[in-house]
Amino acid sequence: MLEVPTVPTAPTAPSPSVTDPPAEAVAPLIRGLDVLRHLTDADGTLALAELARVSGLARATVDRICATLDRLGHVRLDGRDATLAPPLMAVANACLDALRLPGLLGPLADRLADDLDESVSLAVPDGPDIRFVHQVLRRRALSISFRVGDLLPGEGSAPGLVFGRGLPLAVDDQLVEPGLVAVAVPVRDPAGRVVCAVSVVSHTSRHTAADLAGAVAEPLVASVRAMESVLAEAVPPAAEPPRRVPAAEEEPPAVVRSLARGLRILTAFDAARPVLTLAQIAEATGLARATARRALITYEHLGHVVRDGRGYRLTPRVLALGCAPLSRTTLPRIAAPHLAALSERIGESVGLSVPDGESVRCTARVAPRRVMSVDIGVGTRLPADATAAGRVLADGADPAVTDGPEDGLRSVAVPILDRAGRVVSALDVTAHRRRGEPDAWAAALHETAARIAADLHVTSRFVSVPAH
Ligand code: PHB
Repeated sequence: MLEVPTVPTAPTAPSPSVTDPPAEAVAPLIRGLDVLRHLTDADGTLALAELARVSGLARATVDRICATLDRLGHVRLDGRDATLAPPLMAVANACLDALRLPGLLGPLADRLADDLDESVSLAVPDGPDIRFVHQVLRRRALSISFRVGDLLPGEGSAPGLVFGRGLPLAVDDQLVEPGLVAVAVPVRDPAGRVVCAVSVVSHTSRHTAADLAGAVAEPLVASVRAMESVLAEAVPPAAEPPRRVPAAEEEPPAVVRSLARGLRILTAFDAARPVLTLAQIAEATGLARATARRALITYEHLGHVVRDGRGYRLTPRVLALGCAPLSRTTLPRIAAPHLAALSERIGESVGLSVPDGESVRCTARVAPRRVMSVDIGVGTRLPADATAAGRVLADGADPAVTDGPEDGLRSVAVPILDRAGRVVSALDVTAHRRRGEPDAWAAALHETAARIAADLHVTSRFVSVPAH
């Protein structure tokens, strides 16, 4: 049985931003987290000047914070913009893992979505609001779709009504958005506490709210009963000693060192370590106890951690640090900066492809600016047996080298593997044959494929990332 309360809610009120931080809180950590929250609220990208405006921080401060985050791999700076980068997803993953609900109940939510052919989500309370921790999307007619990490107002959503009013079944009749209807039911732990709400979400073009409630109540409640048995039978993972969270090779400059250290604290938590004491956090991160303690005071003030007995536990509000925009992505988007870097490095056209029937379809391409560059646009379909990407995708070649798809062209491709080790895409270089250096290209492709796969793996641990 699951003995620990699975969902620590962030403190209800007042909202942390309106109370003064305690004297021991770490100001640079507060500012760094503020930058991450603003980038998250802006769906992942903001111009640095705009980031300074919305956060009220000095431009020089924003620049320093973003430079640190860029060095840590959590943000990418390009030109005037700062963009959240996949490695930051490790923070959300620590939270989702420690929460255990997505891992335990996600498969049943997926099955319910398949059975009903409707979207299904799991949400937990976050103060007076609700935050999604699992999403299975089947949204044809909706203009917006929420992702893991997104926040909805408690009073204006079906899960919020379940938590706030203690309802056994709540209906959202276009409270969140015109056309969107949802029905939510609470899931209880063995002690009878509501730990999350399961929602079935549809559109008025398919169901009225009342009609949806009638149509799905029975399978929804049956699925919730199955989820409750999973919780009753779940064995807490054996407690494990603190895991070492190493510092980045090069510590950033002093001004924002506390931000780098603070983020390391969050990734010390996981399913086997949902509660950590100060001593364990200090041990895991290699930080002095006094340093770790002040960071924890800061997180507690912001509602990212709560005390639990002698230790600390992450709250779902940790998902406000990048999760939703990073989970709203696709493999071509994850790969884009890596393709640009590779194309720049080798001076040739590089691209991604996925299988498409008997063909392969190009899903991304970056070509150097040159008069005679290869012209294979995104969406182009080529016969699988005529291209190196096709050999990778159809025959598992690694690397594959072919001449073609046009006269005078040579193409070298390598696979990109998902978390389960399946080939999900092929990365290729395609160039005029006389410029070809297949061995050097294959080495560069392997390096880039490994970087893309690392970003894909951290992103897709709890959310599904489409290959195209
Ligand atoms: C959703 O999962 O997107 C969702 C769930 C419940 C709502 C609204 C949206 O009330």
